[in-house]
Amino acid sequence: MSPSLTVSRIAAQQGSILRELRTASLREAPYAFGETLADALLVDPASFDDTAALHAQSPRLATFLLYTEGHPCGLVHAYVEDYDDARAFVAALWVAPAVRHLRGGELLVNAASQWLAEQGAFEVHAWIAEENRNAMRFYERLGFGPTGDRRAMPANEAETEAFYVRHLQVNRDA
Ligand SMILES: CC(C)(COP(=O)(O)OP(=O)(O)OC[C@H]1O[C@@H](n2cnc3c(N)ncnc32)[C@H](O)[C@@H]1OP(=O)(O)O)[C@@H](O)C(=O)NCCC(=O)NCCS
Repeated sequence: MSPSLTVSRIAAQQGSILRELRTASLREAPYAFGETLADALLVDPASFDDTAALHAQSPRLATFLLYTEGHPCGLVHAYVEDYDDARAFVAALWVAPAVRHLRGGELLVNAASQWLAEQGAFEVHAWIAEENRNAMRFYERLGFGPTGDRRAMPANEAETEAFYVRHLQVNRDA
């Protein structure tokens, strides 16, 4: 039987869970992210407490956690840029290998997109490493498409990442 998967916004006291999931993702899928495991391990663990507290209640930044039978097993960040055009993003998406292909990634991206729509977004953006074909297929299945923009990966300038966007179906009268 498939484990039941649920998603909820991070709570203020979940800094250590955030650190565990983020370091697990950087260890397991280093090719996918603009930060390295070494970078994350250098960060003072207390700053994950600060991030969790902020992402639990900010109108601009949030983290959503995936659970299987109550155990944390994935995450995604959602944020709105602090510029005039206030573009909305999902980032740092990761699902633990043991629970992949069960729609946990979809649950996370949809929860983050729903929250971004509630903050006023009409589009959600994501940077995806071009070597990460699996993630590109995953995002395309969810309705994201390439904008044509590309840039060097922040953590590895030899690799490039592509800029994807999803147009949200927003019913603001609902
Ligand atoms: C990308 C990632 C988050 C997807 O997570 P996931 O929970 O497996 O995602 P889903 O189950 O929603 O969908 C993944 C695939 O499984 C398929 N799938 C969904 N349910 C399935 C099922 N019951 N049986 C078989 N396949 C299934 C989907 O069709 C999809 O395949 P496709 O993309 O080829 O169409 C995960 O692979 C991951 O963490 N990868 C490493 C980190 C990473 O690349 N992050 C993205 C950074 S941009």
